[in-house]
Amino acid sequence: MRILSGMRPSGKLHVGHLSVLSNWLRLQAENDCFFFVADWHALTTAYDETEAIRSNTSEMLADWLAVGIDPDKSTVFVQSQVLEHAELHLLLSMITPLSWLERVPTYKDQVQQLAARGKDIATYGFLGYPLLQSADILIYRADAVPVGQDQLPHLELCREVARRFNHLYKLVFPEPQALLADTALLPGVDGRKMSKSYGNEISLSADPDTVEKRVRMMITDPARIRKHDPGNPEVCNVFAYQGIYNRDVVGEITAACREGAIGCVACKLRLAASLNRFLEPIRERRARILAEPRFLDEVMERGREKATAAARETMDRVRRAIRI
Ligand code: TRP
Ligand code: SF4
Repeated sequence: MRILSGMRPSGKLHVGHLSVLSNWLRLQAENDCFFFVADWHALTTAYDETEAIRSNTSEMLADWLAVGIDPDKSTVFVQSQVLEHAELHLLLSMITPLSWLERVPTYKDQVQQLAARGKDIATYGFLGYPLLQSADILIYRADAVPVGQDQLPHLELCREVARRFNHLYKLVFPEPQALLADTALLPGVDGRKMSKSYGNEISLSADPDTVEKRVRMMITDPARIRKHDPGNPEVCNVFAYQGIYNRDVVGEITAACREGAIGCVACKLRLAASLNRFLEPIRERRARILAEPRFLDEVMERGREKATAAARETMDRVRRAIRI
């Protein structure tokens, strides 16, 4: 299958991104994958603060490669380096009714949310965000798109646009399927969704001490006050992590917590140790990648070439179908 996915360049990735990334890794083993940094999409909200986009792109690419995205197996590239995305976006804009974009559920919400914070994103570009995303997907004639739940409306729009194009002109685009990541989302240290904007994240590149400090900050069973009070792992943030990073001792921890035989600090230290063991090789690879700046440039250049070749092939078909 041809698989495509992208992320906006948010800089360093965190532990909350690992469920999406492990999905990518699984797909990479057996499919023709395209993974890209959506830096034009970053401009839809950050058009007036562009200074971090390039460094965020490099930081994120380094994290992708450090977790095992392999540029020899997958096509890894940056959206703004493949101009064909912009051409397809323009052509698709001709056949996309405004009402389809206006009714994308995230649209009005986000305009209002950001307006409340004094930011005006009632722009043409932001309304077109999901159409640019559709162009990203359709230009590689992708069969499937691994994304988070929040992206489903965008994928639905993409399928509708593909259907409309195929109907108006000629069958060019398959209708891409969404592939949802199956691992449950891990919360941030304060119990809310992990996000840099909440400051509750554990970065993949955090050093061991920082990881331990962040784990110590995690919210546990709030009803547990003294060390020997019986606890309820089901309502505990730390426990959600133990289930993933300390899988073989999770039964023991459950019992000890319920009996009040393990204190939360000890429990957290066991988690921090496992998390650090897990992150160590990622940290090492990341450091090696960033120590050799030309390496990332080469990865981007190879990705640009492969992606451009595939995009041009689709654009030939698109232009012939439209007769332009
Ligand atoms: N909108 C996606 C996000 O915020 C990023 C994205 C842009 C994307 N183009 C895409 C994801 C194409 C999948 C396919 O996460
Ligand atoms: Fe959570 Fe562990 Fe404390 Fe139980 S002992 S409440 S699982 S941190």
